[in-house]
Amino acid sequence: MGAWRIGGRAVHPIGIGTWGMGGDRLPDGEVFADYRYDDRDIAAIRAAVELGQNHIDTAQLYGAGHTEELVGEAISGLEREELFIATKVWRSHSLRHAVPRAAEESLRKLRIDVLDLLYVHAPWDSVPMEEYVAGLDDAVDAGLTRAIAVSNFSAGQVLDAVRLSRHPIVANQVRYSLLHHGHVSSRMRAVCSEHGVTIVAYRPVERRLLADQATSPAVLDAAARVGCTPAQLAISWVINQPGVVTIPKASSREHLEENMGAMRVRIPDDLRAGLDGLALKEETE
Ligand SMILES: NC(=O)c1ccc[n+]([C@@H]2O[C@H](COP(=O)([O-])OP(=O)(O)OC[C@H]3O[C@@H](n4cnc5c(N)ncnc54)[C@H](OP(=O)(O)O)[C@@H]3O)[C@@H](O)[C@H]2O)c1
Repeated sequence: MGAWRIGGRAVHPIGIGTWGMGGDRLPDGEVFADYRYDDRDIAAIRAAVELGQNHIDTAQLYGAGHTEELVGEAISGLEREELFIATKVWRSHSLRHAVPRAAEESLRKLRIDVLDLLYVHAPWDSVPMEEYVAGLDDAVDAGLTRAIAVSNFSAGQVLDAVRLSRHPIVANQVRYSLLHHGHVSSRMRAVCSEHGVTIVAYRPVERRLLADQATSPAVLDAAARVGCTPAQLAISWVINQPGVVTIPKASSREHLEENMGAMRVRIPDDLRAGLDGLALKEETE
């Protein structure tokens, strides 16, 4: 390890996503807690750490708060300083004075003293950016988190946050995969590179559409040519870009081991050039 960093801290490029652990979302959008699969998910987080992953990504929202509790249970007894623990504050706590309160509650659930990273979960239209950026800064000043970040921000919004913040904004977590580039444009890369903002790519296997449910002929052909699975191709493509790490969610040792196999995958340049344009092609078709 060593090449992948968030705010100067070395992280494994394949982190541990936790959406769907400890709860889910109802069709009407309401997020709920679900304790039934805790043993499986705690075992998955521990297995991921055993396999060498160290970056755990969770959020106040997930499992209506239960996911942070589950992560807390999974990491209890593990060496704290070997882990990089990130959570996100939701819209419900985006006013300046509420952000540090949310961070305190997350710390309690995670059973740790300080976060490595605290994100604002999204750029809320209904709340001025000044409010939650000041709240993130206050959380650093209060010793609740070592660093702060944003999520689902456009390049322009990242710049606004960098200008407003007293502390460095060290990451922007965005949806980014072979099939979906979203906010990750050349401008985003330039802004992030100039300001030391790591891109944390979420949904790298597109909730299985780039894993065992892959149907894209280009993806299947490329994986066959490289001699890897579609999930390994998708993860390797993301993490072998400057300033990008990823956080697939996997709840079985089999999936975790497969995903870690991406570390051995090398995509030849000519193949990568074709894959780079795939999202555009898929999005316009
Ligand atoms: N900031 C945000 O707004 C935001 C939004 C979405 C997600 N996120 C974060 O990003 C993480 C990842 O995104 P995501 O969970 O939406 O999507 P994802 O990681 O692309 O997909 C997760 C799904 O893929 C399956 N999977 C993983 N590896 C696999 C493999 N090798 N073979 C077959 N299936 C595999 C998992 O199944 P199993 O569980 O059965 O292994 C799970 O159903 C989240 O967990 C969350 O931490 C953040």
